Amino acid sequence: MKVWIAPFLFFVLFLRLSGFNLYAATKGEEIFINRACWVCHGKEAQGNKTLGAPSLAGQDQVYLERQLHNFNVGIRGYHPKDIFGKAMRQMAIFSQADRKEVAIYLNQLKPTSFSRTVVGSAAKGQAVFATCAACHGPDARGMPQMNAPSLVILNDWYLENQILSFKHGWRANAKAAGVKANEEDQIGAAMPPMVQNLSTEEIKNLIAYIYSLRFQKK
Ligand code: HEC
Ligand code: HEC
Repeated sequence: MKVWIAPFLFFVLFLRLSGFNLYAATKGEEIFINRACWVCHGKEAQGNKTLGAPSLAGQDQVYLERQLHNFNVGIRGYHPKDIFGKAMRQMAIFSQADRKEVAIYLNQLKPTSFSRTVVGSAAKGQAVFATCAACHGPDARGMPQMNAPSLVILNDWYLENQILSFKHGWRANAKAAGVKANEEDQIGAAMPPMVQNLSTEEIKNLIAYIYSLRFQKK
């Protein structure tokens, strides 16, 4: 994976320096193009597995802003082994006003369709998901009042990456990992205890169930 990231970072830098530009209808779209977000996340923000960059289309705006903030201040993407998080952290060095604009743009994009990559039993995953439903909603479409994002708009491989990141302390654990930041990831702190005791198989089953929810009508 490491091999892939470095050339891409250079490519992104090249695009930025060469003043690459395309037509954009809104400020947020302009930022998405000019800051080369699409290079990793895809033109429709549908995600790219090789680069570990998730789909962002249709995600809750406030959640997106918070993640961009967390990367910006270094309370996400802090762990040396978190290669994907570290790659994103370098891309989040821009103003709060622009982070908001790009989040507005991403929120109104239509969620894209995905192929299944994680194999598990949805039937077995359903029971495990009961815990998650309290915050992410029974349909896994997120509950803003709980700060919990939609899980159905996400690629299944990214769900696995994040659940493992929370489990390993690569996300929402900056302070314990010895990161000196002037704030803590208090909202993210809800997650590690939720996945701490899940086995590899339970995680795969859970993801298979979340994937199946994608096809349920709202
Ligand atoms: C070099 C590739 C790359 C570029 C360019 C990039 N990203 Fe990312 N982004 C990633 C990766 C990889 C992750 C997943 C990080 C992780 O696994 O924790 C990510 C994660 C994110 C997340 C968190 C999503 C979530 O569900 O929590 C947001 C939001 C995001 N990126 C927005 C952007 C925006 C906006 C831009 C442009 C300013 C951008 N990214 C540019 C690679 C990139
Ligand atoms: C107590 C409430 C709560 C429960 C229960 C909960 N979550 Fe979360 N979850 C959150 C919050 C809040 C966030 C957003 C954290 C942030 O903003 O950084 C989150 C984030 C996530 C993310 C990251 C999404 C992304 O785009 O990167 C995943 C994946 C996730 N939860 C999966 C689960 C699963 C699976 C379960 C059940 C085992 C679960 N959650 C249970 C509150 C909860």
